[in-house]
Amino acid sequence: MSHQELKVNGTISTIKGIGTSGPFFYPLQNPETGTTISENPPALFQPLTIRGVKFANRVVVSPMCMYSCKDGSLTDFHLAHLGQFALRGAGLIFVEATAVLPNGRISTEDSGIWDDKHVGPLKRVVDFVHSQGVKIGLQIAHAGRKASTRSPFTVEQNPQLTMLVPKEDNGWPDNVVGPSPIPWDSEHATPNQLSIDEIQEIIDAFGKAAERAIEAGFDVLELHFAHGYLLSEFFSPLSNERTDEYGGNFENRIRFGLEIAERVRTIWPTDRPLFARVSATEWVDNNEQSWNIDQTVELAKSLKVLGVDLIDCSSGGNISYQRIPVTPSFQVPFAERVRKEADIKTGAVGKITEAHQANEIVEQKQADLVFIGRAFLNNAGWVQKAAQQLGVKIAWPVQYHRRGNYQL
Ligand SMILES: Cc1cc2nc3c(=O)[nH]c(=O)nc-3n(C[C@H](O)[C@H](O)[C@H](O)COP(=O)(O)O)c2cc1C
Repeated sequence: MSHQELKVNGTISTIKGIGTSGPFFYPLQNPETGTTISENPPALFQPLTIRGVKFANRVVVSPMCMYSCKDGSLTDFHLAHLGQFALRGAGLIFVEATAVLPNGRISTEDSGIWDDKHVGPLKRVVDFVHSQGVKIGLQIAHAGRKASTRSPFTVEQNPQLTMLVPKEDNGWPDNVVGPSPIPWDSEHATPNQLSIDEIQEIIDAFGKAAERAIEAGFDVLELHFAHGYLLSEFFSPLSNERTDEYGGNFENRIRFGLEIAERVRTIWPTDRPLFARVSATEWVDNNEQSWNIDQTVELAKSLKVLGVDLIDCSSGGNISYQRIPVTPSFQVPFAERVRKEADIKTGAVGKITEAHQANEIVEQKQADLVFIGRAFLNNAGWVQKAAQQLGVKIAWPVQYHRRGNYQL
């Protein structure tokens, strides 16, 4: 949407707005929602520009699957769900893991981008978020051997159902794929080992997804290389036992991920940032034989060379017997190490819930952006509350200017 003058009764009025995508008039948000108004703000509320994209603050709504799509398309639920974070001033909002192919969905209700029909519903959300001057990213993904499963709430509501979705419920248990025929656990499908041709098809699908993400107007693209989904399955020697050029030594195991990054970067505009989310470790004891932080640092260096701008440092999800010591900020040291040793921007994520905690991470240069998940589900106004707690004034939507000054 470009800035334009509002037409009233056919004549150009002096009122400025930013357009009428759909039936609505969007007044100009100047400065953009979430922008710091105070002088000398703390680190969390300083803007950041990566390539040609400026984030008003350092707080990111982490990608979160809502398992509420229809045939891969976002719905009104997503407009309300993601729209609320734009109205409340997040620096960047991620749309949930979005599958590049139908068999790359975790569940039948996942978001998808394998078809042109998905662009319209994605664009509707993008346009709304942009109406606040807020930035929005898309996480593109392939679930690999963890595909064709029920959403957590479907299992909660129907405990008699199996985790694996059978064909009669529109699942694809026979078409689940991975690096090697090793299931995640006994409740998941045994994946078909991808052929070299099929690997090429998936690289093409990531490229096509990037083209559609451009059409939808996204500011940022994130490659989902974490949590035991397809690419992190290839990275780990515990899930990848291939003997061809995509398995065995470290260079071979990361090859598929690098080829995807390379393809996507040639398509994704040079003035827009590309992120990659990785599992920095898979949390098993025999570190030598598993994916660990040392390998993550080396992967980050290679991704940087290919034009990836930021490594979003999560962990775990690839091994069913992982032991994760979940404590506040527990993954932050990974973001800090990758940032220092690979000399690349990082995102910190995981159990970051408090304003001062988040601010310290940016202030101490452990990460450039702070990704927040569940705390945003608890309070969509997390950024506004954090601003109040840190003594910073930030821009609210002009429509909310009569709100009064309440303690959040
Ligand atoms: C409901 C829910 C859905 C999630 N879906 C995704 C996803 O689509 N992609 C992803 O990379 N991480 C996903 N995650 C992980 C979050 O992005 C985040 O990394 C994690 O919740 C830890 O951050 P937090 O402690 O701030 O919640 C999800 C988490 C939750 C709670």
